[in-house]
Amino acid sequence: MGWKRTLVFLGGLLGAVCAYAGPAEDRSALIDHYRKVFPYISFESYVYGALTMNTEARRQYDDIMAFPPFAIDMDEAKKEWEKPFKNGNRFSSCFPSEGRNVAGNYPYFDNATHEVITFEKAVNICLEKNHEQPLEYGSAEMGLLTSYAKSLSDGMKVNVKVEGTGALAAYENGKKYYYTQRGKQKYSCANCHIDKVGKFIRGDQISMMVGQATHWPVFLSGTEVTTLQKRFQACNRNIGAQPSKIGSKEYDDLEYFLTYMSNGLPMQTPVFRK
Ligand code: HEC
Repeated sequence: MGWKRTLVFLGGLLGAVCAYAGPAEDRSALIDHYRKVFPYISFESYVYGALTMNTEARRQYDDIMAFPPFAIDMDEAKKEWEKPFKNGNRFSSCFPSEGRNVAGNYPYFDNATHEVITFEKAVNICLEKNHEQPLEYGSAEMGLLTSYAKSLSDGMKVNVKVEGTGALAAYENGKKYYYTQRGKQKYSCANCHIDKVGKFIRGDQISMMVGQATHWPVFLSGTEVTTLQKRFQACNRNIGAQPSKIGSKEYDDLEYFLTYMSNGLPMQTPVFRK
């Protein structure tokens, strides 16, 4: 009997291992899905989201980005980023390579604190370490500062890693959030950005989620700086669902999952959105 049980056990184990789709498999399955829906849109173009589906909107976007209305805001943000703290240190002292070509490594999972560290959180950790007041998550101040700081990584390819059990658990938690239906209309993020990608909803065409995390913060209408998690809140509100708090574990894990899907795509921050 013993060997039979062992065989059944090994068979079960093998089945479980084969059936388990890890982050890499999730990502290729999604890319395959979008390739089927949009055979003429290249993977590199996914960073433009809904703009890839509308030539006129894309032309307007290019015109606006040639002379962005937020250029002055960026000059101010640069000064903030470079201003020394009371102790003489600067933001750049908290980041590898003084903050150049690093933003694509965020969010990462910190095995010491067992949490996802978004770029915003890294900024606040830096402030606290230097005995400065942290910035409010989702605030214009945080948005402007990170818009400039992340622009130092323009062109860097998103390079989010999910390694180890803690990281995988955070990824799975974010993934679960993405596929859970909520709100009065019982919609999940996936129902729109995967199932209904390219369809119109109240005049807006729905973007693919691969590529969505490459360009935050954005300037809505060219003036209103908006962080990625603020966009999560807006999408939750649009379906009558209770948004989570910006900087909460729920949203940080969601951002971790979502950003992993943009791996390999170049960053550009900030950009214009309608
Ligand atoms: C009812 C459909 C719907 C649902 C559900 C939904 N979204 Fe959206 N989302 C949209 C539309 C429409 C836009 C604006 C057009 C676009 O860029 O896709 C948008 C935009 C976004 C963007 C910005 C894309 C960009 O490049 O500017 C992100 C990021 C996003 N959604 C994430 C999410 C997440 C995460 C969830 C789940 C919490 C979610 N969405 C749920 C319809 C939806």
